[in-house]
Amino acid sequence: MTNEERFDEERAGRYDLWIRKTIPGYEALHDMAMFLLRTGTDAKNPRLLVAGSGTGMEISYFAERNAEWTFTGVDPSSEMTAIAGNRLEELGLSKRARLHTGFVHELPATEPFDAATLILVMHFLPDDGEKLALLESISARMKPGSPFILADLHAEKDSPKLDRFIEAWKARQSTTGITAEDLEKMFDDIHENIHFVPEERIVELLEEAGFTETHRFYNAMLFGGWVARKGFRLRVSGFR
Ligand SMILES: C[S@@+](CC[C@H](N)C(=O)[O-])C[C@H]1O[C@@H](n2cnc3c(N)ncnc32)[C@H](O)[C@@H]1O
Repeated sequence: MTNEERFDEERAGRYDLWIRKTIPGYEALHDMAMFLLRTGTDAKNPRLLVAGSGTGMEISYFAERNAEWTFTGVDPSSEMTAIAGNRLEELGLSKRARLHTGFVHELPATEPFDAATLILVMHFLPDDGEKLALLESISARMKPGSPFILADLHAEKDSPKLDRFIEAWKARQSTTGITAEDLEKMFDDIHENIHFVPEERIVELLEEAGFTETHRFYNAMLFGGWVARKGFRLRVSGFR
């Protein structure tokens, strides 16, 4: 399944309910991320980059609680972005958010952001340079010292830990009202399309992309959340 199919109109419409049944502590993850960003920046009117803005969870949750924050949301799925746009409109927040249907590397790098998030996105990309390219495209658009939140599925591939946690996750998921057929499809998709890497590799990728001071703040079975800071060192590899 491609990312376009995964977040097509039908699935995008079901996303908000489904994600809460799938990720233990989904809202707590966003809430903690917000406080880490709030205390991690001293910008007066912070401009946030939300990479993989989906149906607008980060932007709406953060905007309602931080009147002085403004947002640029980026997501290649027009269906997810349409839902985000409607949600922000309904909440009266659309003036404070710009939504770009596409990719972070398409944004100009002339006005760096004061903070950024990449929540539940990078695990869809293979670790063949794509994960790093996405992190670098974000890092290149952040002010030195600014806070960054990353959340992703993570584990060593083909490891006993992965098998053990998938088994428990599947058992938990089976209690959410999902049909047996859809449950099998969901976990086939996870096996085929999630590009798991262990935490050490996530930390390494963050460092390679120019982030420092990485700390894990969230853990829910295979889901992890990390806070890092855009470093001050000059990067020698190309600009993406
Ligand atoms: C699981 S959703 C997460 C949405 C949101 N961050 C949240 O916490 O609910 C993943 C989103 O990442 C988007 N996405 C996939 N590849 C991406 C990429 N290379 N850059 C930015 N977003 C991407 C998908 O279209 C989808 O909307």
